[in-house]
Amino acid sequence: MTVTENRIDRTRITDIATREEAEYRRRTPRSAELFERARRSLPLGVASSFQAYDPYPLFMTDARGSRITDADGNEYIDFDMAFGVLAAGHSHPLVAQALATRVANGTCYTFPVEQGIALAEEIKSRFGADCVRFSNSGTEATMDAIRVARGYTGREKIVKFEGGYHGHHDDVLVSIQPPRELMGQAESPATVPASAGIPRSRISETIIAPFNEPDMVAAILEAHAGEIAAIIVEPVQFNIGVVPPKPGFLERLRELADEHGTVLIFDEVKTGVVLAWGGAYEYFGVKPDLFCLAKSIGGGVPIGAFGGRDAVMRSIESLEGTPAFSADAAGTGIDRTTIPGGATRVAHLGTFNGNPLSMTAGLVTLTQVLTRDVYPRLHAMADRLTAGCADILAEHGLPGYAINVGPKGCVMFTPERVTNYRDFIGLDSELWTASFFYLANRGILLPPGPDDQWTLSVQHTDAEIDRYLAVFRDFATEITM
Ligand SMILES: Cc1ncc(COP(=O)(O)O)c(C=O)c1O
Repeated sequence: MTVTENRIDRTRITDIATREEAEYRRRTPRSAELFERARRSLPLGVASSFQAYDPYPLFMTDARGSRITDADGNEYIDFDMAFGVLAAGHSHPLVAQALATRVANGTCYTFPVEQGIALAEEIKSRFGADCVRFSNSGTEATMDAIRVARGYTGREKIVKFEGGYHGHHDDVLVSIQPPRELMGQAESPATVPASAGIPRSRISETIIAPFNEPDMVAAILEAHAGEIAAIIVEPVQFNIGVVPPKPGFLERLRELADEHGTVLIFDEVKTGVVLAWGGAYEYFGVKPDLFCLAKSIGGGVPIGAFGGRDAVMRSIESLEGTPAFSADAAGTGIDRTTIPGGATRVAHLGTFNGNPLSMTAGLVTLTQVLTRDVYPRLHAMADRLTAGCADILAEHGLPGYAINVGPKGCVMFTPERVTNYRDFIGLDSELWTASFFYLANRGILLPPGPDDQWTLSVQHTDAEIDRYLAVFRDFATEITM
């Protein structure tokens, strides 16, 4: 055993990471070949840069239930589930059947369909919302929700948390995983663009706050009193592993938003209909003004949605009666000088919004697959996986801890509990790399990055949890040998 006081032999980690990456290459020549071909037509060889990782991503050919198969015919138990899209599992029979019928009857009308009303009604009842609008991705949902919040309040600045990810539009593609030397003071983090091509003028409206530090958030809101349109937050930071809110943190955000006339937006793209039937809203018992959904609500097809309080959402119909609407001295209506372009409402648009394909998939997923009764089993499986990993880490003295919130979890390879992005930087990325390839080579597929986490679906089985634990135990044994 080469573990001493939570320190493991670095050479051994490097050796196993190198050996397992070589084994990955040996098992997946067809993916390597496809990657070479892809690079000639697609920058980084993929359609979204999140899909790229070294030495090359697996190319997949088919998936069903909890299993996915790569281009070399290797089958994996899928714990990635498309970055958390598939709480329903791959091609759930009910979803697949409904989609087959739908495909035969037209997939896009740009006229509304009844299923869209029913899906909106279902989401309303789960999230205690007054109304909902649909989009096609999480990015669109957060972009639209922020625009509605700005239109409603007549303000332009937003508060976003360091380490949070809300999609790839300019306003929020900042301070996602900023480099240490640029991130600034803990109490007032710098706004650091996460991409080239983002105009400085865009990010000057985004103020970064530290997650889980309510007093610091209060100070930031005070410093910008009357300027903040929205606070946008992932209720659990699921883009830096798994970082739950400290008790009282979300409640304090709710109070601060009320005190400052700011719209509180929960980005439930990962948490919604996964943590619980009613998402983070139900799980934590805190109600935002607006919430954003995507991923799992569509059962595997592209979809997004946002919704919430009538007063805010109806800005899409008219700004009359909103804080942005300030009657002029003569009381003749909107003071157009305060509203850019003299607009009288917030635009929310999209050719594919509410298309019959995603409305059908969403409706079946929510009303027939992710029904109230499935959550206790999902939670029990996830808790067992976490407890099993925790035992293995402890038995082997591996520096790390296992954590889940509902059906989403991971092993965080750092001994101290992570409460925000700055703690996350300390993660042992080489140990994570060794574990990723070790597990993949033995049929356990995790998301290809330490910032993501496993998601269990209704189609995973207890035997698959056992298999994960057996492979993870072998990994822990070898790495500490
Ligand atoms: C919390 C959160 N919000 C928004 C998004 C963006 O969603 P999409 O990739 O569908 O645009 C993601 C994607 O991972 C996410 O995790």
